[in-house]
Parts: sequence; structure tokens; C-alpha cells
Amino acid sequence: MIDLRSDTVTQPSLAMRQAIFDAPVGDDVYGDDPTVNAFEAKVAQIFGKEAGLFSPTGSLANQLAIRTLVKPGEELLTESFSHIVRAELGAAAAFSGITTRTWEDPNGILRADLPLKLATPNAGPYLVSTTAIAVENTHNFGGGSVQPLSEIAKLYEGAQALGLTLHLDGARIWNAHIATGVALKEYGKFFDTISVCFSKGLGAPVGSMVLSTQERITSARQWRKRYGAGMRQIGLLAAAADFALENNLSLLAQDHARATAIATAAHQVAPTVVDPKNVPTNIVVFDLQDLTCSAAELNSQLREAGIAGSALGPKFLRLVTHLGISDEDVSRVNTILPELLQRALKSK
Ligand SMILES: Cc1ncc(COP(=O)(O)O)c(C=O)c1O
Repeated sequence: MIDLRSDTVTQPSLAMRQAIFDAPVGDDVYGDDPTVNAFEAKVAQIFGKEAGLFSPTGSLANQLAIRTLVKPGEELLTESFSHIVRAELGAAAAFSGITTRTWEDPNGILRADLPLKLATPNAGPYLVSTTAIAVENTHNFGGGSVQPLSEIAKLYEGAQALGLTLHLDGARIWNAHIATGVALKEYGKFFDTISVCFSKGLGAPVGSMVLSTQERITSARQWRKRYGAGMRQIGLLAAAADFALENNLSLLAQDHARATAIATAAHQVAPTVVDPKNVPTNIVVFDLQDLTCSAAELNSQLREAGIAGSALGPKFLRLVTHLGISDEDVSRVNTILPELLQRALKSK
């Protein structure tokens, strides 16, 4: 099976398993794990932040971060297809009493004016007060889209003027960095809290991190324990994540080229379905409005041919490239997918 469901399906390499094997560990609830301690300090430094906190998932990293920014009953603004509001099962409300309002960006690409217009800071005793804005970079459901640095800077200036804080859901900030060449520290400058994942394109089996000031990270550490995610010898996981960061970051460029190749081949037969210009990283989203088949039908036809994708809406199919996908896999996808698209167009 050529598995393009997500970049989370990778298998740890032998060398990564060796790094796990070799890691010195201790009990992290006591602060004793040298590998995770060193890794948290290292990643914090990469983003120009004071401290980091290892988390088992990106969802928890997001939730820990935003609860340090927004009090119960206050408001977080985020894009309507962002992971925080769409795929974390209402965690912000369920865990932290945070209310959310959303704005819509075509392809998930940030236009800073929209959240800034929506924001109502210090709204008094009648309206909900906005205290933070979250940005996703790259934007998953937007098709791996990269946020323009100019819009991030504009959002930062506007947020500063309004007294609002900013969170970056940087689960795939690595892809944005590789696609644009913008330094990770440069992204770090604009955000009060950042979440990053090592278990997506970088290929670690588990692991994310929250990055912020020492004070916020101390609070997030308490909440992580309160949620039952205080972990023990997690140097084993941190060693895998560190290996992924050291060895796999530059390989993301290949994932991006392979995603563009898939989008280009599909575009040649079905131009309205996908535009390779809108595929800057490793996520290809297909809009099947002009086809007779649904995303679920196309996905099951692909499956019969040995290719797995994700049908994420009635007419919305997603294919994601990653470490486990080779050029040969892409060639095979590019012989099968265009033919299926052609058939769906023809019988229209
Ligand atoms: C943008 C984004 N943020 C956060 C997450 C959450 O990561 P996890 O699945 O580790 O909870 C994901 C997962 O796909 C994601 O795409």
C-alpha cells in the first residue's frame, strides 16, 4: 500500500531505533531525564524561546499553550478550518472553558485584517473578551499552505496594539521553514506560544513540544501533569524526536517536490481539481466539485489500486507525502490517479 493518508504514518528507521536504544533516561516527573531536558532546551533555543515542554501529542501541546494565554470564559480567535477548532474535539471548551470564534481564509492563507477586525479585547461586562489569536503554519486542511511572513508581522503589530497574545500551531512549521527559507527563530519572534510536532513530516514515532517563556512553561508543566500526561523515562521519545530533527528536516524538500509532482499530474487531466501552485509543501488537497464521484468513492478506487488517501469531506480528498514515499511510489500514483480523474470527468 502506498500510504498517503498522512505524514504521521512513517516507520522509525533502524538508526532512529538505535538512538532510542542509546538514550540516557531518568524520571521526567522528577525532572531527572537528561535527554528530554537537553532536547527541550535545544528546541527552545532554535525558536528563540526561554523554555520548552515535551508533549505526547500536538493536540495536547496546542491545548497546554492556549490555556496559558486565555482564561476560562475568554475568547481565542482562529481560522475556521484550523486543527484547534476542527480536529481537537472541542478540547479548548471542554478542558479550559475557552470560547472560540473563527474567520475564514481561502486555502487557509492568513489575511491578518480578518482576525484583527473580529477581535474584541476588554469587551466589558456584556460581550466576550478576546485574549488570543491562533495561526496554523503550515495549514493542514488548507493544503499545507504557508503563511506569508508579511501577514504574520501585520498580525503581530495589530495584536500588540490591541493587547492580544498570539499562538502558533506549528505542527508543520518545519515544512514552512524548508519551503520558504525563513529561519525558525524568525517565526518564533512573533508568537507568545508555539506548538511543534516531531511525529509528522520529521518522522518521529511520538512527540510534540510547547515553547514559550519560562513562566508559561512552568504552568504548562503543571497542567500536563494534571491532565495525566506527566511521563517518566521519556528520553526514549525525545531521542527519537532529536534524531528526526537532526536527520530528517532537510528531507522535507523531497516530500514537497513529490507532492507537487502528484498535483501537476492531476492538474494536467483535471485542472479545476488541484492547482500545483497551491501545493507549496507536502499536502495535496483535491476539490472534486467538478467530478461525478465523491471523495469516498475516489478514495476506495485508489485503495483498490494500492493507494491510500483521506476523504475529509464529501468532495474533499487529501494526499500527504512523507519519509516513507519514494519517487517510484509517486510514479505509480501518477499513472493511476490521473486515469481515475479522467474517468470521473468523462462520465460527467
Ligand atoms: C496542524 C495540526 N496541529 C495539530 C495536530 C495535532 O497533532 P496530534 O495528532 O499529535 O495530536 C495536527 C495533527 O494532524 C495538525 O495537523
